[in-house]
Amino acid sequence: MPSLAASKKKQSATEHGASRPALLLDWYDRHRRRLPWRPPAGERADPYRVWLSEIMLQQTGVKTVGPYFEKFLARWPDVVSLGRASQDDVLRMWAGLGYYSRARNLHACAVAVLRDHGGVFPDTEEGLRKLPGIGPYTAAAIGAIAFDIRTMPVDGNIERVASRLFAVEEPLPQAKPLIQQLAATLLGESRAGDSAQALMDLGSSICTPKKPACALCPLNADCVARARGDQETFPRKAPKKAGTLRCGAAFIVTRGDELLVRTRAEKGLLGGMTEVPGSEWLAGQDDKAALKQAPALKGVARWHRKAGVVTHVFTHFPLELVVYTADVTARTRAPEGMRWVPIATLADEALPNVMRKAIAHGLGL
Ligand code: ADE
Repeated sequence: MPSLAASKKKQSATEHGASRPALLLDWYDRHRRRLPWRPPAGERADPYRVWLSEIMLQQTGVKTVGPYFEKFLARWPDVVSLGRASQDDVLRMWAGLGYYSRARNLHACAVAVLRDHGGVFPDTEEGLRKLPGIGPYTAAAIGAIAFDIRTMPVDGNIERVASRLFAVEEPLPQAKPLIQQLAATLLGESRAGDSAQALMDLGSSICTPKKPACALCPLNADCVARARGDQETFPRKAPKKAGTLRCGAAFIVTRGDELLVRTRAEKGLLGGMTEVPGSEWLAGQDDKAALKQAPALKGVARWHRKAGVVTHVFTHFPLELVVYTADVTARTRAPEGMRWVPIATLADEALPNVMRKAIAHGLGL
């Protein structure tokens, strides 16, 4: 891999004359994606739109975010109106985007900008990072795109482009600081936000995980991985530790056409999301122990065990759930902390995938 000093020297003039940042910006000017939060070329980005889009894009793809972004903007056109909205209204509008702590932080951030900054976003990375929901990546993205701060927000796309361009052999996540340094060499003297977004677009349309379209890449002339022909093997990744299998039970309780659900604790795995009642998820837990944790419901004499199990793989562990079902009579009250929701409106609930699977299994969908 070329040293950082060598690649910096190259930055000012590649073999082909133009610098990498210039080639990248030139490509961006011709091929950039038209996205609802991006202003027309040459116009200044609105910090409110940039912030709103970056929060939505934290765990959600560009296609899904588009309509949500438009809906939010139509209802709350600026940070002042969002800061004056109720958290409930913001959560309702967020329904379906998932990761609800983002919506709570979004609202808390708007309130803080209104209360502590006179309705104007701070224009430094440090100032931005003090706000709820804004970590180092998001502060860099807003800083670069909205305030032209010369900083590079490195997301998965940029990680892939930089690790191929410089053939970074060190695996992720250890390679993050090196990739950050190398990616920063792709910043132009100005237009930091465009440099970053050019790399994001390049990563999503050309420097794709599989079968990258290298012939169309503006940086192909001095991409080290391409020269060697092993571009698809980057970024290198440390082998994943499988994690210990955890076991538990999910209880699918219907009351006519309604389903019994509850909301998970704010903090921790799947924080604030909707789930059906269930046992703890523990390594080595047997079905009997899991069944003992069934919710106390009047009129449920017996739980029906569905054949088979539901499996799901979280980042840190695989999970196996047995599913029990029961149908209760029309007047049965939900136990404390639980509620009935119509099965027809489940799509409006913040249901994580593991719960979608368990419900589908339990209801025989
Ligand atoms: N992902 C995160 N921020 C983005 C942006 N500004 N443009 C495209 N994809 C993104």
